[in-house]
Amino acid sequence: MSKNNHQKVVLVGDGAVGSSYAFAMAQQGLAEEFVIVDVIKERTEGDALDLEDATAFTAPKNIYSGEYSDCADADLVVITAGAPQKPGETRLDLVNKNLKILSSIVKPVVDSGFNGIFVVAANPVDILTYATWKFSGFPKNKIIGSGTSLDTSRLRVALAKKLELDPRDVNAYIMGEHGDSEFAAYSAATAGGKSVVELAKEAGLSFDDLLKIEDETRNKAYEIINRKGATFYGVATSLMRISKAILRDENAILPIGASLEGEYGLKDIFIGTPAVVNGQGLAKVIEVPLDDREKELMAKSAETLRKVTADGLA
Ligand code: NAI
Ligand code: 2OP
Repeated sequence: MSKNNHQKVVLVGDGAVGSSYAFAMAQQGLAEEFVIVDVIKERTEGDALDLEDATAFTAPKNIYSGEYSDCADADLVVITAGAPQKPGETRLDLVNKNLKILSSIVKPVVDSGFNGIFVVAANPVDILTYATWKFSGFPKNKIIGSGTSLDTSRLRVALAKKLELDPRDVNAYIMGEHGDSEFAAYSAATAGGKSVVELAKEAGLSFDDLLKIEDETRNKAYEIINRKGATFYGVATSLMRISKAILRDENAILPIGASLEGEYGLKDIFIGTPAVVNGQGLAKVIEVPLDDREKELMAKSAETLRKVTADGLA
C-alpha cells in the first residue's frame, strides 16, 4: 500500500494503551516509521527514546515524537487518546469527555492531508469510531474500531481453558457493543470444525456454563480495572493485530468495530462483528448466521449505542 514498501504509522495518545501498542509494534518489527503524538510532549520524546532501544533486537525502525503534520504520508493513524474508566465507571460514561478529545485530534489529522486508515481504540470505542467517520468525512471502509477484538480474545482464552485447547484454535466471537451489552455468538462458534456448544457438552459444560463464561468475559475489564486501575496489554496486542492485517494487506477475518450497511438489519452504526481487513481497511463484513437469541441481543446492543446522546454528535 505504501511507497517503496516503507510504511508509516502515527499513534495519537501515548498513555498506557498507546505506549503498550507502540511496544507491540516494535516487537513485531511492523512499520519502518512510527510517530508518537500526545499533548504531553515530554512523554512522547521519552517513549521514542526508550522504544528505539528495542529495535536493535527486533527490526530497524525510525521511532520519533511528532506532530499532526506527520500524518500527511502515514498509512495508519491509531487513536488511543482519551480518558480511561475509573473504578465504577462504564465505558459509555466517558463519551462527552472523550468525544471532545477526539474532535481535537481528527481535524488536524485530516488537515495534514492524511489519506490512510484510522484505527480507533479510545472508549466508548463504537461511538468514537462512528464520530471519527463523521468528523473526518472519510469513506467508511477507512475507519476501523477495535470493537469487540479484545472481548473476543477474552472469550477465546476463557473457552480454551475450559476445553483444554489452544485459544488460537477457538473460532468464537463476542459481538455488538464493546461494553456491557456485548454477547457471545455461541451458535456459530466452532473449534476444529465442531460446534463449541457440542465440545462444551462433551467436556461436561451446560449452556448455562457457557453463559457464565460470556458474563465473565463481559465483566473482565472491570475485574482488571479494580485490581490495577487500567487494562492495556490485551488491547495493545489486538491493535497490533489489526494494524498488521492492514499493513500486510492480509484479508484477515478479525472481529472489529465495522460500519454496517444492512447486515443484521442495521445501518448507520459501527459495531463489533467479524470482518475482512486488508490494505483498504474494511473489505467486507462477515455476517454471522445468528440464532434468534443472538439476533435479539445484537439488536439490543445496537439500540444501546443509538441511545447514547453526546455533545457534538449528530
Ligand atoms: P491514559 O490516561 O493512560 O492515556 C491517555 C493518553 O491520551 C494520555 O497520554 C493523554 O495525555 C493523551 N491525551 C489526552 N488528550 C489528548 C489530546 N487531545 N491529544 C492527544 N493526546 C491526548 O489512558 P489509557 O489507559 O491509555 O486509555 C486510553 C483509552 O483507551 C481510554 O479511553 C480507554 O478506555 C481506552 N481503552 C480501550 C480499550 C478497547 O478495547 N477499545 C481497552 C482499554 C482501554
Ligand atoms: C477493556 O475492555 C476498558 O475497554 C477496556 O479492557
